[in-house]
Amino acid sequence: MEVVICKSKGEASKLAAEMITKAVKANPKTVLGLATGSTPVGMYDEMAKAVKAGEVSYKQVRSWNLDEYYGLPPTHDQSYRYFMNKNLFEKIDIDLANTHVLDGLAADPEKECADYEKQIKDAGGIDIQVLGIGSDGHIAFNEPGTSLTSRTSVVYLTPSTIKDNARLFFGGDESKVPTRALSMGVGTICEAKKIILLAFGENKQDALLGMVEGGITQFCTASILQMHPDVWVFCDEAAAAKLKLKEYYAWRSATKLGK
Ligand code: F6R
Repeated sequence: MEVVICKSKGEASKLAAEMITKAVKANPKTVLGLATGSTPVGMYDEMAKAVKAGEVSYKQVRSWNLDEYYGLPPTHDQSYRYFMNKNLFEKIDIDLANTHVLDGLAADPEKECADYEKQIKDAGGIDIQVLGIGSDGHIAFNEPGTSLTSRTSVVYLTPSTIKDNARLFFGGDESKVPTRALSMGVGTICEAKKIILLAFGENKQDALLGMVEGGITQFCTASILQMHPDVWVFCDEAAAAKLKLKEYYAWRSATKLGK
């Protein structure tokens, strides 16, 4: 796991976007796994800038998102489909038909999840998976206590995640945050060939510590990423503050990135 500690969220977002731009230039048919939340927005803006500058095209890229709230239609302004359209898809030249987000209104949600897994498999798997991390160490909506081999399924949000998500979304009203979601599993995420995880701010310190330097445990589902051969963590100094080997990670990753 490479931990790239940046001076600012802006610098980290730029570096992560550069990694994706480079990959899509090398393989225009890249399959992306995408995340929502407040964390990747700056990176999505940087990706859009590169498209606008004519540096890269997403015309042949296909994407699968991590999760969607159960019970929200795609048109709901707090749905993850709506978020992706506004924050990325409408800003780049991707074909909307090539973008996939789980259907929060699926009549048979378990079938929806099984079909999603099959779609990803048929696409040849995810080349690059973008992740944020919850303050409780979750990836996608895989909350503490989730099996580290879980597959895409209906999941239950913890009170802490509901609180975190209400803070920035749903007008701050916890009662409006759905309590369930459809989410890629931990096992599904780990099959991605490469993983880019972003983490910013003091609120993510404990989660990052658990993920990078803690033991592997289902109580911090992100900790399983220690077993993955190609994970890049782009974070700011606030999120990295509790890491014991932060100077070492910073030097090693800067050297590898040629910075
Ligand atoms: C989003 C997702 C979540 C978020 C995490 C962090 O699709 O799956 O795991 O990445 O909850 O959210 P933010 O970025 O809002 O702090």
